[in-house]
Amino acid sequence: MRIDVLTVLPGLFDCFLREGVIGRAVKSGKVNVNVVNIRDYALDKHRVVDDVPYGGGPGMVLKPEPIFRAYDELTKEGEKPLVILTEPWGEVFNQDMALELSKKGRLMIICGRYEGVDERVKSIVDREVSIGDYVLTGGELPAMVIMDAVIRLIPGVLGNRESLSADSFMDRGLLGYPNYTRPSEFRGMRVPDVLLSGHHRRIELWRKEQSLKRTLDRKPELIDKLMREGKLSKEEIEIIKKLKGQKNED
Ligand code: ADE
Repeated sequence: MRIDVLTVLPGLFDCFLREGVIGRAVKSGKVNVNVVNIRDYALDKHRVVDDVPYGGGPGMVLKPEPIFRAYDELTKEGEKPLVILTEPWGEVFNQDMALELSKKGRLMIICGRYEGVDERVKSIVDREVSIGDYVLTGGELPAMVIMDAVIRLIPGVLGNRESLSADSFMDRGLLGYPNYTRPSEFRGMRVPDVLLSGHHRRIELWRKEQSLKRTLDRKPELIDKLMREGKLSKEEIEIIKKLKGQKNED
């Protein structure tokens, strides 16, 4: 996959693209991330990328020309990218969107600034994406969040051990079960006996129960939805009935 990132703060991406799983994916060529400084496409000698808003008001707005010039240059050849603009009031990013984007051959992420981007830029944008209902100073952190979630889904990016744990999170949106590692007792807190038992079927059942319990506690609407859509197994429905019974007794 190729990802072009258009930003006024390219330095912010250095560590992100060098370290950890993402750094490995870049080094191995599984993803080619091209960070482009919008300023390099400015028309004037001071390389100005923003200007005051027409109609007045506070803040500065990113000018259209440098962004269009960068877009034209980068899309002159090759596959046309799916273009994302980061926006606090865009469609809220989630795992389904990450999965969908991970299947594309090419993405372009335009990092907005919190004051805004000239509305005409949206004529080249396919999706306006927010990473949550809060306002950041710019689209660079959202671009990294989107890339992190997307790149880890590219086949071969995660090793076997990592991908196993990811699967449990992606199982119909159910929340993950609790995890423990050595030591088996720490400051008086013991790892549940079942995890030390070596009994695979019992461990699997315990994890399923814990995952359903967490989901029922924190996202009960998801359980109702899966139930309505017939996406729960008989065994899971039995576990949920039991958990609901226990809740009612409390
Ligand atoms: N720009 C500023 N805040 C943002 C957010 N929450 N998501 C995406 N882009 C943003």
